[in-house]
Amino acid sequence: MKWISDSPSNTWKIAAEFFQGLEIPAVIALHGNLGAGKTCFTQGLAQAAGVREPVCSPTYTIISEYRGTVPFHHIDLYRLGGPEEAFDLGLDEYLEAGGITVIEWAERAAELLPPNTIHIRIERGENEEHRILSIVENPL
Ligand SMILES: Nc1ncnc2c1ncn2[C@@H]1O[C@H](COP(=O)(O)OP(=O)(O)O)[C@@H](O)[C@H]1O
Ligand SMILES: [Mg+2]
Repeated sequence: MKWISDSPSNTWKIAAEFFQGLEIPAVIALHGNLGAGKTCFTQGLAQAAGVREPVCSPTYTIISEYRGTVPFHHIDLYRLGGPEEAFDLGLDEYLEAGGITVIEWAERAAELLPPNTIHIRIERGENEEHRILSIVENPL
């Protein structure tokens, strides 16, 4: 599965389309550099899942919980110190909590991800607002 986005709002639309086919519970790992659009995609997905509050980048809080039509967890491991910290945060519990769990920089806790995790890679395209989103088997 592959989508080409040409704007942030287009990325929201792609996320909403992805949501339509999503089987819940779901764990979604987002891969891509800083500024790729991982948080943007998460915001679109949250909106599609009925979350009414604004979803911001949880870089400092690591885990944010929202309530839509299903529980919605947004996790950003950018500032995660190491695997012990992932354990201390109770990350494994969030991964089993049901609903939708989206993880940015998920490769930092790769060993904790359930086998049915959906991996999405977001890359920059040929111009400033182009992004290529693809569902990948092996994110590394
Ligand atoms: N097609 C696009 N999809 C998503 N974001 C885009 C797109 N084009 C430009 N952008 C910009 O790229 C940045 C993506 O930021 P963000 O979603 O926070 O990235 P990440 O979470 O991957 O670090 C935002 O400033 C956004 O406006
Ligand atoms: Mg982000």
